[in-house]
Amino acid sequence: MRRKVIAGNWKMNMTPSEAVKLANDLKGNVANDNVDVIFCVPAIDIVPVVEAVKGTNIKIGAENMYIEEKGAYTGEISANMLVDAGVSHVIIGHSERRQLFNESDEFLNKKIKKAIEHKLIPIVCCGETLEQREEGITLTFIKDQIKAAYEGISSEDALNTIIAYEPIWAIGTGKVATTEQAEEVCASIRKNLEEIYDAKTAEEIRILYGGSVNASNAAELFAQNNIDGGLVGGASLKPEFANIVNY
Ligand code: 13P
Repeated sequence: MRRKVIAGNWKMNMTPSEAVKLANDLKGNVANDNVDVIFCVPAIDIVPVVEAVKGTNIKIGAENMYIEEKGAYTGEISANMLVDAGVSHVIIGHSERRQLFNESDEFLNKKIKKAIEHKLIPIVCCGETLEQREEGITLTFIKDQIKAAYEGISSEDALNTIIAYEPIWAIGTGKVATTEQAEEVCASIRKNLEEIYDAKTAEEIRILYGGSVNASNAAELFAQNNIDGGLVGGASLKPEFANIVNY
């Protein structure tokens, strides 16, 4: 039985003081021991938010990291730094990074490996554009993304990863995928994992849905056989996030 994961992706929102206030406002209301609750926060908010949620069930994730250990990479953050700051998860390959910062499948594969090397749990994102969906190539496109992301990663390591399926056309648009669309792709990703690894590994890896998740659509999405929770953007910045966690 896969344990549900409800992760918030704060994106580029919340100054450190705003972040601490939001964490304090939410922490009592997301105290659900039946699910993994993760706040993925901007790098500058990590240290104060880790402090603010100490002693709660909330885990802290980063939104990005770099592929090298240390050195002359001005502006970047290493896996080591994240771990030392108290981070347990890291979002890798969000469509915003793929599209706005030209992050390639090969580069993201390196990030995933580096995260695993440091025992950070990567939340590996995938998802198609509206054009790809309309062309009917969603499942093959995502299969390629998953294959590239997991290239050279053992099944043992793959078990310590989470996948987030986020159709790009559903992100921040208020246009949520139907439960059938979301379940179809998440089931297909599980098949992809079975092909790469084996049935047992595929059965254990958690696959989340992201894209306009809110308090009114969460329960139905999370009830699908292959959807193990959500990666929530806009609604993770509001009191509503507690209703999603307690769906
Ligand atoms: P929204 O929930 O705002 O659509 O964002 C989804 C997302 O990109 C989470 O990573």
